[in-house]
Amino acid sequence: MVTITGIDFKNPTMLASGIMGTTGASLLRIAGCGAGGVVTKSIGPEPKAGHPNPSMIELECGFLNAMGLPNPSYTEFDNEMKIVRSGTDVPVIASIFGGNAEDFVKVAEGLADSEPAAFELNVSCPHAEGYGATIGTDTCMVESITAAVCDAVDVPVWVKLTPNVTDIKAIGKAAQNGGADAVVAINTLRGMAIDINSGYPILGNRFGGLSGPAVKPVAIKCVYDLYEALDIPVIGVGGVSTWEDAVEMMMAGASAVQIGSAVHESVDIFSDIASGIDLFLQDKGYSAVEDIIGLSHEVF
Ligand code: DHB
Repeated sequence: MVTITGIDFKNPTMLASGIMGTTGASLLRIAGCGAGGVVTKSIGPEPKAGHPNPSMIELECGFLNAMGLPNPSYTEFDNEMKIVRSGTDVPVIASIFGGNAEDFVKVAEGLADSEPAAFELNVSCPHAEGYGATIGTDTCMVESITAAVCDAVDVPVWVKLTPNVTDIKAIGKAAQNGGADAVVAINTLRGMAIDINSGYPILGNRFGGLSGPAVKPVAIKCVYDLYEALDIPVIGVGGVSTWEDAVEMMMAGASAVQIGSAVHESVDIFSDIASGIDLFLQDKGYSAVEDIIGLSHEVF
């Protein structure tokens, strides 16, 4: 078991936002597959159709997506939250987004009734004008939005960071100064693919966010830097698809790992990775996951 921001997780794996997180039923399915926690698809203040298709493509090194934050708004999603909350004890974290502090507060207050274990603030989606990384690259906005949500809710507030910045530590510190209980790193890396027969960009939005194995070294470095710079926990996400990847992310400083793209291989990934971590700890004579969190910082 691991406790992060006061929430007990039976193991240090979680479903990352954006994958299988649009309905109560799909979140319940993942909760039943051994995930320590589940994070919803990002929910906003108004219904949003998202970007035109194609909105997701597979590449040799991962996935490119530009969904465009499609969601039914918090008023409609509240019911999905209630479905998942009433069907499992696995902590459910509500990912939320907005264009400003008022939006974020409105969504957080609107979903507070369905008692998420925590809120994860999406200030990092790389391709939604006016949302996500538009906000998350500005330290003042990150700090003030975080502070506003922390004021408005009684549960922990996590802030998901974009790697599309020069210095992720500055953004992490802004979240921490705003009162964040944890940061989550990283969201996707801005990327693009072009069809050489037509010459057109493939994604409907032209560019999107890269996820999967290619981004893991970027995520490891961001987690490593944030662990040194901050006093709050860092939750690692980006390219984790094996228990070895999870151990590496934890040694960089992650208190837990979120898994997104690799879910497309198998929904058993959560229990596979959790038991792989356990066996590794036993093999090496560690007594708990805490023994390996940030271990790479002690080596020198
Ligand atoms: C979307 C949002 C994200 O935060 C992300 O990393 C990728 C896609 C989206 O809905 O478009």
